[in-house]
Amino acid sequence: MQQLSVVILAAGKGKRMVSDLPKVLHSVGGKPLLARVLATASGLEAAVRVVVYGHGGDQVKTVLAGEPEVLWVEQAEQLGTGHAIAQALPLLDDTGVTLVLYGDVPLTRLETLQPLVDQARQGKLALLTVALADPSGYGRIVRNEQGQVRRIVEEKDATPAERGLCEVNTGILAAATTKLRGWVAELGNDNAQGEYYLTDVVAMAVRDGVLVEPFTATEAAEVQGVNDRRQLAELERFYQARQVGALLDHGATLLDPARVDVRGQVTTGKDVVIDVNVIFEGVVQLGDRVKVGAFCVLKDAVIGDDVEIFSHSRIEGATVGAGSQLGPFARLRPGSQLAAGVHIGNFVETKKTSIGPGSKVNHLTYLGDAEIGAGVNVGAGTITCNYDGANKHKTIVDDGAFIGSNSALVAPVRIGKGATVGAGSAVGRDVPDGGLCLTRAPRKDVSNWQRPVKPKS
Ligand code: UD1
Ligand code: CA
Repeated sequence: MQQLSVVILAAGKGKRMVSDLPKVLHSVGGKPLLARVLATASGLEAAVRVVVYGHGGDQVKTVLAGEPEVLWVEQAEQLGTGHAIAQALPLLDDTGVTLVLYGDVPLTRLETLQPLVDQARQGKLALLTVALADPSGYGRIVRNEQGQVRRIVEEKDATPAERGLCEVNTGILAAATTKLRGWVAELGNDNAQGEYYLTDVVAMAVRDGVLVEPFTATEAAEVQGVNDRRQLAELERFYQARQVGALLDHGATLLDPARVDVRGQVTTGKDVVIDVNVIFEGVVQLGDRVKVGAFCVLKDAVIGDDVEIFSHSRIEGATVGAGSQLGPFARLRPGSQLAAGVHIGNFVETKKTSIGPGSKVNHLTYLGDAEIGAGVNVGAGTITCNYDGANKHKTIVDDGAFIGSNSALVAPVRIGKGATVGAGSAVGRDVPDGGLCLTRAPRKDVSNWQRPVKPKS
């Protein structure tokens, strides 16, 4: 099969974003526009991905440095889409086909693009068009009486009759690389904008007897570019509707699909229920019958079956065992690993901490760099003092231990199996298995205590 090269045009300034950030680094669904387009190219199994960059190129390259094997080409001056492609062509070999995408059109689906690539492999020039109620600003598709595409005319060069055409050019096209190379070499800039228009290749294809195969996108949002913050916000909503639609199709209950945002990937088991104003980021996995309360944020988390997360909890980089209960107002930070049946209550924070089956940490607690065994009860207000100002140290609490309220576990420290720590203790040395540790200061009683009084002025 002829190999596919994808050229992504991204040299535009994006002035209307009113931003210090290059336009293609603005995000939809938590991912930069250009990263989405690169992912689409990978999905099409492109052998080569070329980004034509201009404004803010260094920043763009830095942000997308993790993308494997992207070729970067600078277009120092933005002389038009044809000129942009010309910068990329020297990097492409002649045996394959080339698909042109825009770095600021993030939501085109593979299903929409694959037929264009297929037709280009058949030797045609494939073109993606869309019908718009308001076509202003776009290049218009000019067809003959038989409905065949003859050329594209840019709005500024169009006659009033041509401006009345509602089928517009999305800018996405595919053709054999050799043919594209020949046509692009011929482009001139004798037009209203003095630019090299890539769109002129369509008339050249017709002239050369190459079949032009138009495809029409059914959803305008799929081919919508981002020029300003309004369009960015519109695409975000479109994208979110698509994401929550998929969750509903997989059998999740969303109490209000308009108030759940997916900025990553979520997979759901059976009969999951998600309340309003929940945000998912990164990769999140929800088991069967998981309930997520209102105003929760879940990022990079694996949540077991039958877990209930009460409102206002933030779960990040955590694994939660089956049947556990979290929140309200729980905060699990990266490296939190909860076994089955764990209870984490309100205002409890965990970090790099594992908690064994059935253990309870119900109120006002911080556990950092800790290993908590099974069946442990951690009383309200317990804190692991894991940081000495320079280094982090570990706290180990063995199975069945009971930590009284308001205790400070000064790491490194180990609380033995079945051991008890009395309320209000500051524990700086290990407690043996089955032992009691009590560091509470001895009580002093004074009867008829006279409180200080203010001096009379
Ligand atoms: C272009 C098409 C127009 C189409 C419209 C769809 C041409 C001549 N016109 O319009 O038919 O309806 O897109 O949005 O192709 N870019 C560069 N270098 C340049 C110019 C542009 O990389 O010198 C990139 C931009 O970053 C952007 C894309 O190409 O991603 C389109 O540029 P833009 O200026 O938005 O489109 P137009 O040329 O107005
Ligand atoms: Ca434009």
